[in-house]
Amino acid sequence: MSRVIAIFNQKGGVGKTTTAMNMSGYFAILGKKTLLIDFDPQYNTTIGLGVIHEPSETIYHALLAGQQIDRVIKRTYLARLDVAPASQDLAGALIELIEVDDRELVLKKFIDTVRDQYDFIVIDLGPSVNLLTVNGLMAADEVVIPVQCEYYSLEGIQQLLDTVNLIKENLGHPLKISGALLTMYDKRERLSRDIAREIRKRFPYKVYDVEIPRSVALAESPRFQKPIMLYAPQSPGAVAYEELAKEIIRGDENQKEYVIPPKRDVFETISSHPYVEKSYEYEYGTYVPAVHVKKEEVKKEITNEEVPTDTKAPLVLMIHEEGNFKDFFDSLSPENK
Ligand SMILES: Nc1ncnc2c1ncn2[C@@H]1O[C@H](COP(=O)(O)OP(=O)(O)O)[C@@H](O)[C@H]1O
Ligand SMILES: [Mg+2]
Repeated sequence: MSRVIAIFNQKGGVGKTTTAMNMSGYFAILGKKTLLIDFDPQYNTTIGLGVIHEPSETIYHALLAGQQIDRVIKRTYLARLDVAPASQDLAGALIELIEVDDRELVLKKFIDTVRDQYDFIVIDLGPSVNLLTVNGLMAADEVVIPVQCEYYSLEGIQQLLDTVNLIKENLGHPLKISGALLTMYDKRERLSRDIAREIRKRFPYKVYDVEIPRSVALAESPRFQKPIMLYAPQSPGAVAYEELAKEIIRGDENQKEYVIPPKRDVFETISSHPYVEKSYEYEYGTYVPAVHVKKEEVKKEITNEEVPTDTKAPLVLMIHEEGNFKDFFDSLSPENK
């Protein structure tokens, strides 16, 4: 049974494309027939792997311009690794898709026609949440979330989990969060270590054991249009991506169970959170994002309004995440704050 994995984080520059290319490359090396779909209008995967194609042979053309599927799927230098390239035309799909029936399922329908030919299908998504991202997530069985080991990464996590939950609840797709991947990890930097430790402790799903180190070779290899194993196979980044591929192939025996905390605890944690300063109304309750404005508003929100009894889990999940970051911020030394 093949697995379709979307690489998702709405933040740019966190290592999605680097992960998509190199993880897919190691799947292939480890004997798994793999299709990597570039689903980002910035088409960095296509450039980084040096995929040669006619202008009309991209994923966009297969989905929306009637191009034959086998014209769009390209072999690479690696045995068992195929790529469906993208170009800037994919940006146009955003508008065209609006007119299409089942517009969230266009990529899924494409994948369904080739799925039985592959062990893994990896989708590299762009840095946004739009109809393309929704197509990517609806087509996937699972998501891998690269998280850069830097301060601002934490802010995006709740939004990301929220998007996955919307896909699950509103669109009824049983998408699994396979795990978070710590990227650009620098073990010599205290902040990098602190963030890695905190994400390991707090992220409500699996965090892969392997950490992807910050590595010049990983940043350089796209310039030579090669995945890391063809450019610097002995480099620490290569070793780490091989480990990741093995971890993902092995599957999820160690999947952590996520337990929804009692609401009272959750709200007490928020109200004492020094970094929660503003609350927003959200469609299924009160949504408290990370930073900004004043703490008093949150207190008012909590005392004046009962939490609706029909509140769904995502609300709790997001706030739970917020509350937990208090410990994280507290654990940072003053000069890091
Ligand atoms: N582990 C790493 N070490 C060093 N540079 C990296 C690493 N991972 C990614 N990069 C570089 O960081 C930039 C952003 O990475 P990329 O994979 O393109 O992120 P995204 O697809 O999330 O936007 C790229 O220039 C890439 O080469
Ligand atoms: Mg990218």
